[in-house]
Amino acid sequence: MTTPLRLGLAGLGTVGTGVIRIIQTHANLITARAGRPVTISAVSARDRKRNRGVDLSAYAWEDDPVALARRDDVDVVVEVMGGSDGPAKAATEAAIAAGKDVVTANKALLAHHGQELARQVEAAGTSLRFEAAVAGGIPVIKALTEGLAGNEIKRVMGVMNGTCNYILTRMESAGLPYETVFEEARALGYLEADPSLDVDGIDAGHKLSLLSAIAFGTEVDFDSVELEGIGQISIDDIRHAGNLGFRIKLLGVAQMTGRGLEQRMTPCLVPAQSPLGQLEGGTNMVVLEGDAVGQIVLRGPGAGEGPTASAVMGDVIDIARGVRIPPFGRPASSLTRAIPAKAAVPAPYYLRMTLLDKPGALARIATQLGDAGISIDRMRQYGHSEPTAPVVIVTHRTMRDSIDVALAGFRDTGVVVGEPVAIRIEAV
Ligand SMILES: NC(=O)c1ccc[n+]([C@@H]2O[C@H](COP(=O)([O-])OP(=O)(O)OC[C@H]3O[C@@H](n4cnc5c(N)ncnc54)[C@H](OP(=O)(O)O)[C@@H]3O)[C@@H](O)[C@H]2O)c1
Repeated sequence: MTTPLRLGLAGLGTVGTGVIRIIQTHANLITARAGRPVTISAVSARDRKRNRGVDLSAYAWEDDPVALARRDDVDVVVEVMGGSDGPAKAATEAAIAAGKDVVTANKALLAHHGQELARQVEAAGTSLRFEAAVAGGIPVIKALTEGLAGNEIKRVMGVMNGTCNYILTRMESAGLPYETVFEEARALGYLEADPSLDVDGIDAGHKLSLLSAIAFGTEVDFDSVELEGIGQISIDDIRHAGNLGFRIKLLGVAQMTGRGLEQRMTPCLVPAQSPLGQLEGGTNMVVLEGDAVGQIVLRGPGAGEGPTASAVMGDVIDIARGVRIPPFGRPASSLTRAIPAKAAVPAPYYLRMTLLDKPGALARIATQLGDAGISIDRMRQYGHSEPTAPVVIVTHRTMRDSIDVALAGFRDTGVVVGEPVAIRIEAV
């Protein structure tokens, strides 16, 4: 029999137990595909006594994931504990230093330390794989690093946080405000322990920064991702956007522009009939655009035990087959430092504001837009009988900086009540 590939599994939560289930259920299938058996030598978690619904009796136990990473009977460390630092980073570095390969689902670790870890992996001659870290079960890393390797990548877009997409689509379908749906999502267990990772776009921003590095050959630069969460999106915006033929998505966009690398994870209006516009509930979608291939749309489950473990196992089986690809699809030393460019590509914007319903109010707003060099495509005013009236404006293509100038000018008009809302309309 050929030599088995022996795993050390650090983390026995949702993803870790999913990996065990696949290995226990599909042993023969995996052996046939990998050309050798894939086995588990040892596991690690915090609470040894917890019943995890899987049989762990055949595996050695380590309280310390770093000790697990250093074991002689472990070839590959599967890090599925989570956290950008602490035990996840320590175990990953210990594994690399010991000459072992690492498979991780941990986007936070990679977004903050991916560059440094890729260098360590290169120096040690090992590999670091992270398919599960981006868009769960969707094999997007493989698509970029392998299938599309002959393309110059023009743009990467995606809805990569299922919880945000669930909240936005549920607000729309049930006509409920953000706060109510947020609490529903919390009760259903959809939110991270720290919900801001989801609703402020941080988790999705981590994922986008990893895709950017692969797509554009740049160092991972999460700090330059422009982040804006969904907490300010109101049911009114969702309705008005719908009337205009759009839906609101927390959309990640990365593209190399003449001014540098633009990376943003912000709410956007997308055409309701586009693949991104039609995305419902917790599903993820990644859109990849290459010069030769055109546009590729990948859609699937972005989280959960089965989908995430599926992605982990794809990486493990590649390692068992002897497939070696640098973490970001090229040598770490060849990744360049990109100049960050904030929203460098002009776009139309959706503006919503509440105006005092008095003569000349709209004219003052139009003047501010004109002064900022912004022309109006469409304008609608609602509820004339009230002392105030909501107004929705769709602009022609403009820069975000110009929108910010206009928004600042609105405050001096004396006719705007509360804070105006500005949301980019993305051509997808
Ligand atoms: N869940 C998903 O759908 C999903 C999707 C994509 C990516 N991911 C990523 O996958 C990773 C794991 O997620 P998860 O949902 O499986 O998390 P989880 O259910 O919270 O499980 C985490 C596991 O790590 C163990 N652990 C934490 N700190 C530890 C320490 N200091 N020493 C040893 N073990 C430790 C925990 O032990 P105890 O059980 O004893 O507490 C637990 O078994 C994260 O990086 C996450 O971002 C998850």
